[in-house]
Amino acid sequence: MLILGIETSCDETSCAVVKAEPRSGTAKILSNIVSSSLFRHKKFGGVVPEIASRHCMEQIQCVFEEALTETKIRAADLGLIAVTRGPGLIGSLFVGVSFAKALAYELGIPLVGVNHMEAHLVANFFDKPAPDKFIGLLVSGGHTMLTYCKGARIHILGETIDDAVGEAYDKVAKILGLGYPGGPIIDKLAGKGDPGAVRFTCPKLDGRFGRGSGAGNDARRFDFSFSGIKTAVLYLVKDPKTGLPKPDAPSKQDIAASFQHAVIDWLVEKTLDAADFKSVSDIVVGGGVSANSHLRNKLTREAKAKGCEVWFPPFSLSTDNGAMIARRGFELYRNGKRSTFKMTGDPALQIH
Ligand code: KG4
Ligand code: ZN
Repeated sequence: MLILGIETSCDETSCAVVKAEPRSGTAKILSNIVSSSLFRHKKFGGVVPEIASRHCMEQIQCVFEEALTETKIRAADLGLIAVTRGPGLIGSLFVGVSFAKALAYELGIPLVGVNHMEAHLVANFFDKPAPDKFIGLLVSGGHTMLTYCKGARIHILGETIDDAVGEAYDKVAKILGLGYPGGPIIDKLAGKGDPGAVRFTCPKLDGRFGRGSGAGNDARRFDFSFSGIKTAVLYLVKDPKTGLPKPDAPSKQDIAASFQHAVIDWLVEKTLDAADFKSVSDIVVGGGVSANSHLRNKLTREAKAKGCEVWFPPFSLSTDNGAMIARRGFELYRNGKRSTFKMTGDPALQIH
């Protein structure tokens, strides 16, 4: 079965053709075209929704045509269309959803709406089939979640109560005047700094944060908080009373290294705790921050020591792309899900 995956939830416009085997559940990427509008947002220090949706509108037709041309298949050969339904920016989502509905109608083939965050996890399952159950760590610019996944079902164990981890990277980079997006810049700079230069305090959630706390009676055990560390960085470089730069502030590379080590330590600790709690031996990571070098090294090393296997997507599938949407759409389709032409984009779509 040939599946078209369409992704337009934020600043990327992507179409992919995936060849899937309904009997075995395996899937292979034939093409995965991504047109990013990142270069248009850089000077504003963040994504401008109107610019992002306009870019999606301008690009969707040619990205679709290129995805077909690269595979040498015709639109009539497609058997399913999967499209991001949310969460994301309303204008961008509408472009993909409208395009997908029109195409499914024209071709007379089924349509499946996909949750973007769920798709980030299955970006790992192209070369190897998915494990039966696993802990999913979702780390992007808009979300940070720990999930427990079994079959096609995804259950949220915990999430951030304020900023997402990618958002914290972007805000800290802005405070340090490093540019946008902050994640890859801080990741690189951190390699040149001393991670022990600044000691950031681990956020206390409900006063009962930490490994070893009782599972059922600690509702916040798997939650995160990243806004405090961002403010701590701000007050390292600026006097909170005068707003003036501090002459004795640590160097940018030392702040980057200390910040990166602190947030990645928190992510790794809670993820391993969740694996213990659910007695699973597979940990799957998805979302833009899965590209982070320290997260990859530390989680892989520490999970291995506990006998767990860690899955990271290839770098090309870490950030937003149509292939992961096709992969998740296929999984849902195999479980009997179909969307109707009444489907619309949902900016606040939740994982069920
Ligand atoms: O999943 P994604 O492409 O888009 C959203 O759905 O949000 O994630 C983008 C986020 C940005 O916040 C970016 O700074 C972060 O991923 N990011 C990284 C790295 N590469 C991208 N954060 C930390 N380290 C990286 N190497
Ligand atoms: Zn994403």
